[in-house]
Amino acid sequence: QGTALAAIDAAIRIIPDFPQPGILFRDITPLLADPKAFALAQALLLERARSFSPDAIVAVEARGFLFGAPLALDLAVPLVPVRKPGKLPADTHSVDYGLEYGTDRLEIHSDALARGARVLLVDDLLATGGTVRAAADLVERLGADVVGALFLIELTGLGGAERLAEAHIGVSALLRC
Ligand code: PRP
Ligand code: MG
Repeated sequence: QGTALAAIDAAIRIIPDFPQPGILFRDITPLLADPKAFALAQALLLERARSFSPDAIVAVEARGFLFGAPLALDLAVPLVPVRKPGKLPADTHSVDYGLEYGTDRLEIHSDALARGARVLLVDDLLATGGTVRAAADLVERLGADVVGALFLIELTGLGGAERLAEAHIGVSALLRC
């Protein structure tokens, strides 16, 4: 697994000072463009996802969709999108959150999850944890249970895992840097 993780890591490009000075942006587009590395990442994420025995995958727009959608298909469970404001057409719940750079709002369809459903949150990257914390709030507002949060990358040192731990959400990430 070490060599697989090294191959995945090598397919992620670091762009300094994007989108703001001082941010080291993790660019996943080389990974997406490399079917072998992308498949490896997806296989390892699937193994992790299975261990949570989720009833549903909740993935966060936009980059979370890229990893959450194949997981939901492979696990044969519903995929529920959490979206940026104004995108979901039916009745929604919304929550405001602080991001690593800026603030935003996230929404979920009010009828997207059954009460008591075991939900695995999926996103590409954990930084401050603001995004997934907000997604977790939405899931809980629907009466479903967050059983964990799964990421391709965890940026350690920004307090994301700690922030999620405060909400009793366990973090699993393929790469920690
Ligand atoms: C990025 C990333 C995570 C989030 C992590 O999304 O994809 O969702 O930031 O940061 P946090 O842990 O500090 O909340 P972003 O909102 O930049 O946009 P995108 O996924 O739509 O590209
Ligand atoms: Mg995102």
